[in-house]
Amino acid sequence: MGNVRAGILGTGHSYPEGILTNADLEKTVETSDEWITTRTGIKQRRKAAPGEYTSQFAVRAARQAIERAGLEPSDIDLILCATVTPDQILPSTGCLIQAELGAHRAAAMDVVAACSGFLYGLTLANTMVQTGQSRNALVIGAEILTQYVDYSDRQTCVLFGDGAGAAVLGPVEGDRGILATRIKSDGRYEEQLYSPGGGTRRPPSAETLASGDHFFKMKGNELFKVAVRSMADISREVLEQAGLTAEDVSLFIPHQANQRITDAVANKLNVDDARVYSNIAMHGNTSSASIPIALDECVEAGRIKKDDLILLASFGGGVTWGGVLMRW
Ligand code: ACO
Repeated sequence: MGNVRAGILGTGHSYPEGILTNADLEKTVETSDEWITTRTGIKQRRKAAPGEYTSQFAVRAARQAIERAGLEPSDIDLILCATVTPDQILPSTGCLIQAELGAHRAAAMDVVAACSGFLYGLTLANTMVQTGQSRNALVIGAEILTQYVDYSDRQTCVLFGDGAGAAVLGPVEGDRGILATRIKSDGRYEEQLYSPGGGTRRPPSAETLASGDHFFKMKGNELFKVAVRSMADISREVLEQAGLTAEDVSLFIPHQANQRITDAVANKLNVDDARVYSNIAMHGNTSSASIPIALDECVEAGRIKKDDLILLASFGGGVTWGGVLMRW
């Protein structure tokens, strides 16, 4: 590929006002703040109110990212919205966001890769910018997972939250920008995390609704092990691709799934706590939104400085996983 490198020009995030605490969940399922905290690290998650929908949060996050990039919506020529909880089946949430932003020059679409969606989007946008097919690409991760959570299933209902994060990618000068990306999937693990109803295989009906087929179903224990192994492996792969090691990493921002997963991956990579970002206590698992929300929180808090080496790694339903390494 040519010499153009893509880098992040601006970030943003947004989430609903509503908060669901562990104490709230204690009232509805057989669980405890103590169990949730020690097994997951989660204390609360954001929950959209009835009537709120995914693209509303995506648009707020996107506006912030575009403004911080010093651009206008009309400068954006590619919109990739990573989501497994779209506003509707057709058109894509990407197109709905495009209309709301007034980004009329953009090609827009959704990326469906569950918790890895944002890193899939960054990887695709990176290639589009590098090849000159796009100049300013907007990559969003946005979810309202709480609408697909079965609040009678204590294993899943404590984990998920809502929100959106966005980043604008464009050409950058010098040594900055995205140094390495890698995305992978293995569909044989479909049933580790899935939602069987509502598509063409099990079209929505009174029966699928009654049996709760539209809810997320998960084999948490099995996912845990695959997640730790895959995120550690792909992190090593992108570091190797760039000729760097985990020692060089300034900040590791993993997908926020479970504090124990984050700790185990960081431990495997030998990245000490001071270089690992976690917001799981405040947000729970927001799937594709988790990395861009975390990234923007780090930018806002001044935790990322020029020339820092940032490592992102994700794992999610599919199963899918990915790694992105960039020089800020
Ligand atoms: N409150 C109290 N008890 C619970 C709860 C709860 N909310 N949920 C499960 N338990 C019980 C189980 O029923 C089980 O009881 P039993 O021993 O009597 O059968 C016991 O706690 C232990 O259950 P495990 O499933 O072994 O608990 P584990 O330590 O694996 O934690 C968890 C479960 C938190 C789901 C963990 O496996 C996990 O985080 N997995 C990753 C899942 C994930 O993050 N998925 C998101 C998508 S993929 C991704 O983003 C990585």
